[in-house]
Amino acid sequence: FGPKPLAGKRLVLTAGPTREPLDPVRYLSNHSSGKMGFAIAAAAAAMGAEVELITGPVALATPAGVKRTDVGSALEMHAAALELAGGCDIFIGCAAVADYRPVAANEHKIKKDGDTLSVEMVKNPDIISDVAAMAARPALVVGFAAETRDVEQYAKGKLARKGLDLIAANAVGNGLAFGTDDNQLTLISKDQTQVLPQASKAKLAEQLLAILANRLSEH
Ligand code: PMT
Repeated sequence: FGPKPLAGKRLVLTAGPTREPLDPVRYLSNHSSGKMGFAIAAAAAAMGAEVELITGPVALATPAGVKRTDVGSALEMHAAALELAGGCDIFIGCAAVADYRPVAANEHKIKKDGDTLSVEMVKNPDIISDVAAMAARPALVVGFAAETRDVEQYAKGKLARKGLDLIAANAVGNGLAFGTDDNQLTLISKDQTQVLPQASKAKLAEQLLAILANRLSEH
């Protein structure tokens, strides 16, 4: 490879958390900081790719040379991803998307009336599954898997169920992965498993993208 192994390639990725509104002042979300996804966006731009970054609410600056679309909820992220992903070379789902959202956000602030409160939730669409099923499917569709246990086994299930080419599994919980500067990834494809040992998210992003650039050149 030259220094720009992704020159001429278009990469679309999601990063950060989603926010699922409960009422005008509250939401359900998770601890994703966006650091992993932003590191991938920065590295991809440095490697010559045209990068479209779709991100939930995070406190990070847009990396140089990256086009950014800000979204709030999973439904908004889904719409943005389906609009931008068609025909791209690489799609990466690094966002921690809420699996469920409140059936309907309350029009007014929920009052503190009862001792308990139940919220009915409905499943969100699976963004990366829908991208992998697009007529203009990206050449490579890469997911992440965040698991607190049985990481590889669950990741393999997601790889198959969501129709992905590769999944990057990371252990989460107990201070791992979410919000940290370092991470550790296990890359799983149909016929291969490869461990990227603990390193900065910037370094892991470069390693992951070098592997993906290699795959594209074999396509
Ligand atoms: O943001 P950081 O603080 O740096 O943390 C990074 C990270 C831990 C969030 C990241 O490395 C990571 O693991 N991201 C995926 C988190 C996640 O939601 O994993 P999952 O196992 O629930 O989802 C599997 C895959 O399906 C992911 O590619 C996810 O983006 C995608 N998904 C999930 C649900 C949904 N409705 N739509 C999706 O596209």
